[in-house]
Amino acid sequence: MHGSRISCKWSTLCLVLLLPTSLTHAATSSPHGLTEDSTLRTLLLDEPVAQLLKLGEVSDSDDNLNRTYLSPAHKRAAVLVESWMQQAGMKTHIDVLGNVRGCLGSRTAGPALLMGSHYDTVWDAGRYDGTLGVIVAVAALKALLLQAACDAGVLSGDAVNAAVREGQNVSALLGEHADALLHAPVEVIAFSDEEGVRLQSTFLGSRALAGTFFKHGMLASVDKKGATLSDILRMHGHGLLGADEDAIKQAIARLALAPEAVQGYVEVHIEQGVTLEGLDVPVAPVRAIAGQTRLAVMFKGMQGHAGAVTMAARRDAVAAAAEAMFWLERRCGGQSLVDVPEEALEDPSLVCTVGEVDIHPGTSNVIAKYANISVDIRVRRDDVRQRVVDDFRQQVDSVCRRRGIECAAEVRHTAPAVACDPGMVQALQSACIRSQQVLERMLAAGQCAEPGSAGAGVAAGAGAPGTCAAVPRRPRRAGAALTLVSGAGHDALALADLTKVAMLFVRNRGGVSHSPEEHVEPEDVAAAGAALLMFLRERVLLDKAPL
Ligand SMILES: *[C@@H]1O[C@H](CO)[C@@H](O)[C@H](O)[C@H]1NC(C)=O
Ligand SMILES: *[C@@H]1O[C@H](CO)[C@@H](O)[C@H](O)[C@H]1NC(C)=O
Ligand SMILES: *[C@@H]1O[C@H](CO)[C@@H](O)[C@H](O)[C@H]1NC(C)=O
Ligand SMILES: [Zn+2]
Repeated sequence: MHGSRISCKWSTLCLVLLLPTSLTHAATSSPHGLTEDSTLRTLLLDEPVAQLLKLGEVSDSDDNLNRTYLSPAHKRAAVLVESWMQQAGMKTHIDVLGNVRGCLGSRTAGPALLMGSHYDTVWDAGRYDGTLGVIVAVAALKALLLQAACDAGVLSGDAVNAAVREGQNVSALLGEHADALLHAPVEVIAFSDEEGVRLQSTFLGSRALAGTFFKHGMLASVDKKGATLSDILRMHGHGLLGADEDAIKQAIARLALAPEAVQGYVEVHIEQGVTLEGLDVPVAPVRAIAGQTRLAVMFKGMQGHAGAVTMAARRDAVAAAAEAMFWLERRCGGQSLVDVPEEALEDPSLVCTVGEVDIHPGTSNVIAKYANISVDIRVRRDDVRQRVVDDFRQQVDSVCRRRGIECAAEVRHTAPAVACDPGMVQALQSACIRSQQVLERMLAAGQCAEPGSAGAGVAAGAGAPGTCAAVPRRPRRAGAALTLVSGAGHDALALADLTKVAMLFVRNRGGVSHSPEEHVEPEDVAAAGAALLMFLRERVLLDKAPL
């Protein structure tokens, strides 16, 4: 067993960091040099980056990335992701709502660790939102499994290197051994609908697993063509062709996981903001997901002739809405305004948005009767959010009373803030730090890639293919003391109803997301994979018993 450790260098080096010094001599006696570092590089950089690019091509539109719930491209993507999970050693299935599930380890070995993110996209989307978390989880688990197989003597180091080089199917390679290698079961889930573009049904996939699907009235969702979710599942669903309403309900209810069967959920996701970029840090854990209140506010005035009605006689719905919108921006600390109130600055995570304005009749020479607006308020602290919502409602009342118009503010959605599990945040933070060294070596391995070889020229900052010249690399810092607050929801928010959650954010260029310009550097994909691998080593304890 000891011998097999020595021949598996990346595994050995990880052990060096975790085990007593009696074992550290193994690191210096590795016979393989660069080979194993390049194996790990293939697993955590080249393969996931190639998969992300490939998945980015699976679209319903020719000229942009567009993959909404249960569209043809959505179903092709599910099959592709499932095949990668199989290749990585997992047992897979696609559930009735289209979530792609990859399981590893025996369910009787204790509660499962869940990992994942979503594979649906917005219209004209980027390639990394959601898919990054799925692909990185698959890559890290594949690396963990091969490492465990090597540690346990199931595969030699040479066999691991060859399997990775040749892209062998790890399920076929390990057979029944695969499930016995991990101390706790792991499930990777590619959630089918997080963006909610087709049915306005945010978190459709993850809510079913969390057991909150019916509570959120998701079955009643309707798409633009008037098809209900049941209709869509009946026509295109995974395994529900022609099923009646009761059968559909039962099948969805069965997806709910038992809380005692789950130990936690970890999600890797692009930051969709610029904090990490500003600090030159590739990855960092998230401390909390902001709570959110969405309101629909109606301003109803009196329709009239733009030329004939005097200013004194007007009851202008648009002007009233504008006054309330302006007040909200200032209350939430809008930077371009003067006189920002003190309380607006108490929490920098406070953000408020009016994204929709519906005006009726909406003609240039008519004083509008209706101005209906959407309001979205998010902040880390629930008490702050409640105060902003209350203040805003009061303000709407007083604006409308003064102007003599009718108003109504209706809460459409509310979600409390979710604190990430402190233990998992801590473990992710230490995993980020411990992954530094192996990441450096892995990236260095790419600098000597042969022309035309799998890894050549993929990594940003790598040397010219075929050369081993010393290339200055950017200094990399682990997200040591850094934790972030997520303003966006993510599947982790839905899973928080079921289990402890944690997230790892990955730097994305300029913070740009929901756009074809969305970009993550290949070396940052690798940084996320290396950190997740280190996290898994600690969490999913390897079974060291000989097989
Ligand atoms: C995205 O695909 C849907 C069909 O699934 C289509 O109706 C829509 O127009 C497409 N959007 C873009 C921006 O291509
Ligand atoms: C990988 O191997 C497993 C087990 O032999 C098999 O069931 C699966 O279809 C294979 N997957 C792919 C994508 O080749
Ligand atoms: C605004 O909301 C009211 C009440 O829900 C509705 O009757 C009206 O049609 C809406 N008007 C527009 C332009 O959306
Ligand atoms: Zn996302």
